[in-house]
Amino acid sequence: MTRPSREALVAQESALAAQYDAYRGKGLALDMTRGKPSASQLSLSDALDGVLAGNYKAADGTDTRNYGGLEGLPEARDLFAGLLQVEPSEVLIGGNASLTLMHTSALFAWLYGPAGAGSAWRNEADIKFLCPVPGYDRHFAICEDLGIQMIPVAMNSEGPDMDEVERLLTADASIKGMWCVPRFSNPSGIVYSDAVVDRIAQLGKIAAPNFRVFWDNAYAVHALHRDAPALASIMEACREHGTADSVLVFGSTSKITFAGAGLAFMGASKANLAVITRHLGKTTIGPDKVNQLRHTRFLKDAEGLLTHMDGHAKLLGPRFDAVLATLDREIAGTGMGTWTKPEGGYFVSFDTLPGLATDVVALSAAAGVKLTPAGATWPYGKDPDNRNIRLAPSFPTPADIQAAMDVFVCCVKLATVRSWLAEG
Ligand SMILES: Cc1ncc(COP(=O)(O)O)c(C=O)c1O
Repeated sequence: MTRPSREALVAQESALAAQYDAYRGKGLALDMTRGKPSASQLSLSDALDGVLAGNYKAADGTDTRNYGGLEGLPEARDLFAGLLQVEPSEVLIGGNASLTLMHTSALFAWLYGPAGAGSAWRNEADIKFLCPVPGYDRHFAICEDLGIQMIPVAMNSEGPDMDEVERLLTADASIKGMWCVPRFSNPSGIVYSDAVVDRIAQLGKIAAPNFRVFWDNAYAVHALHRDAPALASIMEACREHGTADSVLVFGSTSKITFAGAGLAFMGASKANLAVITRHLGKTTIGPDKVNQLRHTRFLKDAEGLLTHMDGHAKLLGPRFDAVLATLDREIAGTGMGTWTKPEGGYFVSFDTLPGLATDVVALSAAAGVKLTPAGATWPYGKDPDNRNIRLAPSFPTPADIQAAMDVFVCCVKLATVRSWLAEG
């Protein structure tokens, strides 16, 4: 598109600056930073409280109030095997946070080795992870915590750039892991294509034996509608390629039931599960099985889970609509930015023109709209093009989202027009 004349830009700048000052004068205090469920979403699961009605016995007679059951109750493993797309015997139910399971898996791999004796990452000079970008800051934080170097890999509309992933892995045996959020990726909302899933399943053939894909399917059932793109099963593909040990699958009910009092789970091959449970068994005698029983009684089965997720979609849909409609109305066709249109998950990923993300975030903050810091979606907080901004519409009310988006698009336009003027 052709850029407006200098005269037109000067006029636009002064109109936008006036609009921006008016927003500043409103004393707004809006927050679009984190992907937290709203109180209404949490309330969808209030029946968890009391669902046991004094019956603590699992289907096999286990008294869930007592110690034991490191891998989880059979009914919980059955239910969440479907979500993880693995066999029930490959499921471990953990505590309340899948991040803990991811951190623990990486820590155990570093300390003890993911494949038994001699495979510990700590014995090697460098440990590196591939990090599809934009990505999830807490994954990057785990790497930083363990001193793991991060290598960004671009995402395209089908998932990570697999030519680049395969090239890097072939060239560098110190790459021991790769983060993936395969369905409704954080923050782009992209669903990995079947072809990408199949190529990731084959990485175990070219990578070192102690390489693991960290397949964080945090948004496995978090579609905005039932026709949203499905995800192929990584474990099934791995089985076909003989690489089942190369992948660790993670998930949780943080955004299904209660974010702070849900269940986390992982799926892994028999060999990988044996390594994890051997060491996990030293940290606990068993997980909270009462919570597992509450969840299976409440969610019931795969269809019960999807019906429950329809309730979330009903609340999230209008919030995503407010974000996307505002961007369509105000930014489409201006050449001032591009964004994703997710069919699930918790985020919209917005790219400003290169160099402007920090300006947009700072302008928004000064007008009372808090956004995730620019750079947060990149390893080490460094977006080399300074353009990606993650918008999180789940928590505020639709009215607050609209108010925040009005400010956001004004800031995008103001920062862009000013940069065009500065270019002369
Ligand atoms: C990709 C991804 N993984 C994991 C989490 C956190 O999961 P949990 O609450 O199970 O630790 C989030 C939360 O936003 C996320 O976006």
